[in-house]
Amino acid sequence: MSAPFRILNECASTNDEAKRWAAEGVPHGAWVLARRQTQGRGRLGREWLSGDGNLFLSIILRVEAFVHLTWLPLLVAAATVEALQFEDPNVPFRLKWPNDIWLGNGKLGGVLCESSNGVVVAGIGLNLNEAPLGELMYPAATLREYTGRQYRPDVIAARIAWVLLQKLQTLLDHGPGELRRFYDQHALFSAGTSVEWNGHRGEVLGLGEMSELRVRSMGRVVSLFAEDVRVSSAVG
Ligand code: BTN
Repeated sequence: MSAPFRILNECASTNDEAKRWAAEGVPHGAWVLARRQTQGRGRLGREWLSGDGNLFLSIILRVEAFVHLTWLPLLVAAATVEALQFEDPNVPFRLKWPNDIWLGNGKLGGVLCESSNGVVVAGIGLNLNEAPLGELMYPAATLREYTGRQYRPDVIAARIAWVLLQKLQTLLDHGPGELRRFYDQHALFSAGTSVEWNGHRGEVLGLGEMSELRVRSMGRVVSLFAEDVRVSSAVG
């Protein structure tokens, strides 16, 4: 049976709508999509520009605390990529740790997981059809620009929600092995990539047990948990 969903013309943030709806007892897997948001939020307290034509989705996950919970944001990003690959199997989507989706040299989308009252709300923003207007941290990629096709956010949303529930069940039943393999196949920061964060530089080793990014820097192994990491622009 498919999960209930709501499609709104406009709201402040679909994550807030989903939290309100979850408080009314809506089941695991229910989702909220908006055509535009007036106060879309991103990671690290940033704004998420949310004009018409793109996807603004929040999925309600009723998960008890479990040992692999720290993999959840990456799982949501991986589910989003897998759902997009149903539409466009040959597009080279990349996962940018910790939970961004990249295409070419730009950011196609991002994930913001928030939990309250035992419910995780997985928020996903994707530039399906339009480049966001405004000041951006990273150059934006749009899927339409890449493929020349126009996308229906409601169709993509339903697919993401479905794939996410399957992948979540696999994580719960078998742990993060499959997710780790999917990540390795799609990682923007593959092993050996030179990266920089907060004024530091290092070379990527891979993901640790909690989905942290492990990097060799100045002869030491450093674990990064939520930092903003970029491919290093410096040579040498
Ligand atoms: C990021 O890359 O910083 C995460 C962006 C997450 C944006 C989505 S859009 C749907 C949901 N509602 C929000 O307010 N934020 C998330």
